[in-house]
Amino acid sequence: MTQICGVQSWCLGVVLQVILAALLHRGFAAAQTTAASHKDPGRPEKGNYVVTSSNGTECLLASMGLQLNITFNSVSENKTVPVIMNLQPNATKHSGSCGSDTASLRLSTDTENTNLTFVFTLNATSTKYHLSEVSLSAAWKDMKEPVSAVNSSLDSLRGTLGYSYMCREQQTLILAQDVSINTFDVQVQPFGVTGEQFGAAEECKLDEDDMLIPIIVGAALAGLVLIVLLAYLIGRKRSHAGYQTI
Ligand SMILES: *[C@@H]1O[C@H](CO)[C@@H](O)[C@H](O)[C@H]1NC(C)=O
Ligand SMILES: *[C@@H]1O[C@H](CO)[C@@H](O)[C@H](O)[C@H]1NC(C)=O
Ligand SMILES: *[C@@H]1O[C@H](CO)[C@@H](O)[C@H](O)[C@H]1NC(C)=O
Ligand SMILES: *[C@@H]1O[C@H](CO)[C@@H](O)[C@H](O)[C@H]1NC(C)=O
Ligand SMILES: *[C@@H]1O[C@H](CO)[C@@H](O)[C@H](O)[C@H]1NC(C)=O
Ligand SMILES: *[C@@H]1O[C@H](CO)[C@@H](O)[C@H](O)[C@H]1NC(C)=O
Ligand SMILES: *[C@@H]1O[C@H](CO)[C@@H](O)[C@H](O)[C@H]1NC(C)=O
Repeated sequence: MTQICGVQSWCLGVVLQVILAALLHRGFAAAQTTAASHKDPGRPEKGNYVVTSSNGTECLLASMGLQLNITFNSVSENKTVPVIMNLQPNATKHSGSCGSDTASLRLSTDTENTNLTFVFTLNATSTKYHLSEVSLSAAWKDMKEPVSAVNSSLDSLRGTLGYSYMCREQQTLILAQDVSINTFDVQVQPFGVTGEQFGAAEECKLDEDDMLIPIIVGAALAGLVLIVLLAYLIGRKRSHAGYQTI
């Protein structure tokens, strides 16, 4: 690079600026994730949940990390506190059911008394499915009274029959003003499961957007290299022409 850019100092400046911009973007992203409260339990562990239908075949596959965000009246602190709790996959039981146009996944935790149910709906006409309802009930030791919330007008994790839905980015499902669920690294297939594996994945819009930045930076860098190379070649041609005239 120094050889190519040595001829023109401006080009070295531009290259350094692009590299700096790329580094700053990474640094900024890292700072955003660390600037959370002291109660932040970190990223939840990913759990794999399989629901089998009455005839023993797998009918719903889910793989995701789940984090509960509940604001409740605390016994120990004698006030309303927001609590973020990660679902521990190895301490979570799962069950569920599969119908022709609805399927559900029910999770319950051993350590703290929590039940969480995801309901998926399939539209047979459009062959599209989505997460339509999530309900949560929790009776933790520190809760003055149990908390329960349900949102049956959800429209997320949208996919096509025969495909799985996939989203690496964090998403939030709002059940009530003081109850929400953060999902991480989701892959689900609530309908049309054949065998024990996910169908081809349909990736969410958020992931595509996240991919866009490296693509733009890469394209910019490639363009820059091309310009520098051209400048170098033109410069060499000129100096050759110079020798010929002498
Ligand atoms: C099992 O039941 C599902 C519907 O619940 C059906 O689609 C599938 O074909 C059945 N499999 C077998 C082996 O009977
Ligand atoms: C809890 O707080 C309320 C006021 O917010 C107070 O009246 C009550 O005595 C407190 N209870 C305990 C056990 O500290
Ligand atoms: C679950 O896994 C965590 C680490 O991933 C471990 O600390 C914990 O003891 C495990 N709990 C059970 C019930 O196996
Ligand atoms: C199912 O999809 C079709 C076609 O997109 C639409 O017209 C219909 O309203 C949908 N049905 C439900 C129950 O959402
Ligand atoms: C969760 O479900 C179990 C079994 O149905 C029930 O015994 C328990 O009370 C439920 N917990 C909550 C917090 O609703
Ligand atoms: C249920 O979810 C929808 C879609 O995210 C949201 O617009 C609505 O506010 C939620 N309902 C409640 C009660 O929070
Ligand atoms: C938890 O929910 C509250 C609002 O109820 C929100 O302000 C906060 O950012 C959420 N925290 C996380 C880690 O999702």
